[in-house]
Amino acid sequence: MKRIMYVSTATAPMSGNEVEEIGRVSSRNNLKVGITGVLFSAHEFFFQILEGDAHQVDRLLERIRRDRRHRDVLVLKAELDVTERLFSKWSMRMIRLDSSSDFILQALRTMLENITESYRIIERYTQPSVLKLLTEGVNPLGVPVHKAEQIVLFGDIVAFSYLSERFPIEEVADLVSQFLEVCSRRVVENGGEVTKYVGDCVMAHFNGDNADGALEACLGTLSDIKNMREGADSCRLMRFLYSGFGLTKGSVIEGNIGSSIKLDYTVLGDTVNLAARLEGLTRNIGRAIALTRAVCDACTQTWQFVPVGDFHLKGQSQSCPVYSLADEIVGEMRTHDQLVDDMLLLGQACRFGPVSQSM
Ligand SMILES: Cc1cc2nc3c(=O)[nH]c(=O)nc-3n(C[C@H](O)[C@H](O)[C@H](O)COP(=O)(O)O)c2cc1C
Repeated sequence: MKRIMYVSTATAPMSGNEVEEIGRVSSRNNLKVGITGVLFSAHEFFFQILEGDAHQVDRLLERIRRDRRHRDVLVLKAELDVTERLFSKWSMRMIRLDSSSDFILQALRTMLENITESYRIIERYTQPSVLKLLTEGVNPLGVPVHKAEQIVLFGDIVAFSYLSERFPIEEVADLVSQFLEVCSRRVVENGGEVTKYVGDCVMAHFNGDNADGALEACLGTLSDIKNMREGADSCRLMRFLYSGFGLTKGSVIEGNIGSSIKLDYTVLGDTVNLAARLEGLTRNIGRAIALTRAVCDACTQTWQFVPVGDFHLKGQSQSCPVYSLADEIVGEMRTHDQLVDDMLLLGQACRFGPVSQSM
């Protein structure tokens, strides 16, 4: 059996009758499929525990996630191999915390509110791969370090340091956030996982058999940032947003790596270093994507790869044949120097220049 615990936010305030109706429907449906549990409701949130056959619990959770009466369903805990039910007598016991004057229920409401708030904050700062393991019922701390065959992606903003010194800090922070947003969304949509952010740089990984997904993520991001660039006013930093991506495939060490102060669930190894180097190389080759032969070979869809030369990259013992994609958008790359020229050209009209940053 499986047991899950989640919190969600009510989309709009619900009347007592509407909440009771969810309880009635839940009890009736759950009884049919052997699910038991409890559902706490307050004006702003729900807190539910579901237990039963794993397949039935997963199916129900999918249905509940789609319910428009609430949003932001966040699984706090999933337990697999549950042998005993906690709520064997309740096919779904609804407990309304806001209508009760019972002191214990009021205290419970405050506790659940605080737990929910803390989880929502921690969720924003937590690596998606760690959250994914938790929702799958796996304790990330218990996962041993292991080797895995993966595609590694590095992407960042061209000439970021130069540009960031010439615009107000709020505009710089907004640009980085928007870039990380579109890039991360494309990675996740295409089956990858965001490993971490380092400043304006995104590191992500994909299963070794999903090279196509990694390329789609890069092309999708390039298309998104092109739209963002072209939609921006001429004097805005967004007008200068170009990015480069490095992609490699190979064996990585995956697992918990860090200190007692901070732990990362991450990937390490030469494949990772090489991806970072290739991302840096995109500026020199004037193409927004640089990849290795192993990535080309792992693709199952038809792509038009173009060889861009052999490069001796830092940290590599041998020179590396580098490839790119023939797509037009990949060629719409600006080098650091070209962006500096663009800035100078527009500089007079827009009064660009080092901004005094208020600290
Ligand atoms: C917070 C919340 C908890 C829910 N819990 C359950 C549940 O435990 N079981 C269930 O069948 N439906 C539950 N629902 C309702 C489902 O989303 C869905 O509306 C319902 O299962 C459809 O049932 P019907 O096809 O019988 O109308 C819940 C909805 C919300 C908003």
